[in-house]
Amino acid sequence: MSKKIAVLPGDGIGIEIVAQAVKVLECLNSDFGLNAEMENGLVGGSAYDETGSPLPEATLKLARASDAVLLGAVGGYKWEALDIAVRPEKGLLGLRSELELFANLRPAILYPQLAHASTLKEDVVSGLDIMIVRELTGGIYFGQPRGIRELEDGEKQGFNTLIYKESEVERIAYVAFETAMKRDKRLCSVDKANVLECTELWREVIERVSKHFPDVELSHMYVDNAAMQLVRAPKQFDVMVTTNMFGDILSDCAAMLTGSIGMLPSASMDKNQKGMYEPIHGSAPDIAGQDIANPLATILSVAMMLRYSLGAEDLALKVEQAVDEVLNQNLRTADIFTDGDIKVGTEAMGDAVVAALKA
Ligand code: IPM
Ligand code: MG
Repeated sequence: MSKKIAVLPGDGIGIEIVAQAVKVLECLNSDFGLNAEMENGLVGGSAYDETGSPLPEATLKLARASDAVLLGAVGGYKWEALDIAVRPEKGLLGLRSELELFANLRPAILYPQLAHASTLKEDVVSGLDIMIVRELTGGIYFGQPRGIRELEDGEKQGFNTLIYKESEVERIAYVAFETAMKRDKRLCSVDKANVLECTELWREVIERVSKHFPDVELSHMYVDNAAMQLVRAPKQFDVMVTTNMFGDILSDCAAMLTGSIGMLPSASMDKNQKGMYEPIHGSAPDIAGQDIANPLATILSVAMMLRYSLGAEDLALKVEQAVDEVLNQNLRTADIFTDGDIKVGTEAMGDAVVAALKA
């Protein structure tokens, strides 16, 4: 049965890295029996330029009609001065919320070949394998009221709302516990329950759900401590579950443990295994269009898509093996390059993954 993938390159390096991931998908179509139909759509700043909206109706329609969405990145200097309501980031946030992609899985895995590329000592990070489960459609990112208002004395005041319903915490808790069950059965829930009532409730709900998962060892950690522990002794973690904003911050931190944010994929899932797949890095406008960006995070996002939304675990493994193989060949983009490696550009890295698949 044919599957439909919405391809949304977005802005900046999104365009060149998604092109490499599409090459991989085309190879899977032609050589490995994947039957995926791809259709492109606009999102982010480029969509704004063309249509006046960072999330045009046509893109939303395409995404809704697809089995999975492949997204590059959104944003850039060019659009920074725009009103927040039409900024490129709103395109991404709109997709997450309209498609109800509440569960964001962000694996931070260290490839042994890159152990020396981490800024942390090799023995601190070697063997690292963490899964961050980030709540993605609630919390302070979406809470109302929000805005910037003028007070009576003329001074301006900015405000946002951190808000979670029990049901929102509960559903992400189930995803996190189920994820832990498939791994080392250890779950750390990250909150700021010592200060924020909202996360006091978060902790209460996590505890409640834990009763259904007696085999999972649950711990709780305040977010400031979690940030510290991630750089002090990251291997203590198996699965972490946290709020939208804490997850945003901690996943960048965890990414850097693996040597480069250019290596980390992500999956954002709804309750029916439909997902949007994207690298966790941004649009990197400073290096866009120069053929130096690392396409591996996007290619690894394709592997997650095959696994979670397209029911093709065998092909997911093939893609992951192909990435492993190009690293074994010492091929490196600039972000993961160290002396003695072979430096390649974005295109060449994509071609090397395709060659490894075909080999
Ligand atoms: C991420 C990004 C986004 C976020 C931005 C681009 C809106 O940082 O996916 O982590 O904050 O969620
Ligand atoms: Mg982020």
